[in-house]
Amino acid sequence: MMHDAIAPPPESDEATVIEARGVEHFFGEGETRTQVLFDNCVSIGRGEIVIMTGPSGSGKTTLLTLIGALRQIQSGSLQVLGQELLGMSDTNQMKLRKNIGFIFQQHNLFSSLSALENVRMAIELKPSSPKEMDQRGIEMLERLGMGERVHYHPENLSGGQRQRVAIARALVNRPRLILADEPTAALDAKSGETVMELFRELAEGPTGSTILIVTHDKRLIDRASRIINMVRGRIISNVATEESVHICQTLAHCKPFDHLGESALAQIADRMLCENFEQGSRIIKQGDEGDRFYVIDEGTVDVRVDDELKTELQKGSYFGEISLMESRPRTATIVAKTPVKLYSLSKSDFELALCEHGSLEERIRRVYMERQ
Ligand SMILES: Nc1ncnc2c1ncn2[C@@H]1O[C@H](COP(=O)(O)OP(=O)(O)O)[C@@H](O)[C@H]1O
Ligand SMILES: [Mg+2]
Repeated sequence: MMHDAIAPPPESDEATVIEARGVEHFFGEGETRTQVLFDNCVSIGRGEIVIMTGPSGSGKTTLLTLIGALRQIQSGSLQVLGQELLGMSDTNQMKLRKNIGFIFQQHNLFSSLSALENVRMAIELKPSSPKEMDQRGIEMLERLGMGERVHYHPENLSGGQRQRVAIARALVNRPRLILADEPTAALDAKSGETVMELFRELAEGPTGSTILIVTHDKRLIDRASRIINMVRGRIISNVATEESVHICQTLAHCKPFDHLGESALAQIADRMLCENFEQGSRIIKQGDEGDRFYVIDEGTVDVRVDDELKTELQKGSYFGEISLMESRPRTATIVAKTPVKLYSLSKSDFELALCEHGSLEERIRRVYMERQ
């Protein structure tokens, strides 16, 4: 049997694997036309394990099928593995899909094929010798506890066993992107654990696979690098699990923020970007227009006004607020004295935070006066 060669990995070192901007989606025509996705933006990097949760009907599966090029994009922009899906031809969609491992609720196993033959279908996309392909298929099925049943047909397997065959098939080629819709729902605890282990190996291994999992399985949450929550067709939060906790701790030690409650801090943390600067690099320049507000998480920065060193700032301090609050150019130049790690807010998110937390502006102004 002949098979198309797998599409060459488009720009394989690309750090961003999924980039969605303003993705909307409608089902139906005319009067029955309903919008199910609204202005979704998300960016997911190489090697990330991201969990998507949200109530039933909130649009998770729809978004997953759009990302997997299983459904035509209607509006917005969606880049997957470096390729834009809006307006992509069917042929190119098919090629792209060969780089994606799908684990969906309907297993789509071929009933006329055995477990091993089903897994080999995927391996044959990247052909090698028949013996080697069998061996890889068997190894993967063994990992998933299906070693005794490699020659069984789906009709003789339980729901959970079929799911494990589907998982073996999705993972056997170590795809750079894996999309999984409730992958552990039909599985016992031990198989669920194995699946998460396999995900982790792929994410941390040489392929740096990116894994997006729709799940409500609480056991999986602490394995994820990030959780995306979807409600009524919108991504309403997008939290890096460990990073978010850390940002909240940093903010809680930063004077104007130290009175805010946990949820207010988390809300601000979710909008912050983590940036690292090498020693000696200029972070902001006196006279420039201000566009971000910065909180120092690690390291020391020099504050220079008219080329004169004014002061140093360290962990728990912040800078960049004045030009944002007063709409005037940067009043100082900030240079990294050591390597620094900063959390920053865009101008609009900074304004939003001031607006949502009335006391914040006053506190920032007070600190500014004290500094003078
Ligand atoms: N093929 C379809 N045709 C029409 N409506 C659909 C179709 N698939 C899903 N929907 C509707 O879109 C909304 C989102 O569904 P879905 O993406 O399956 O949500 P979730 O996976 O979060 O449960 C729901 O209201 C659902 O009824
Ligand atoms: Mg669903």
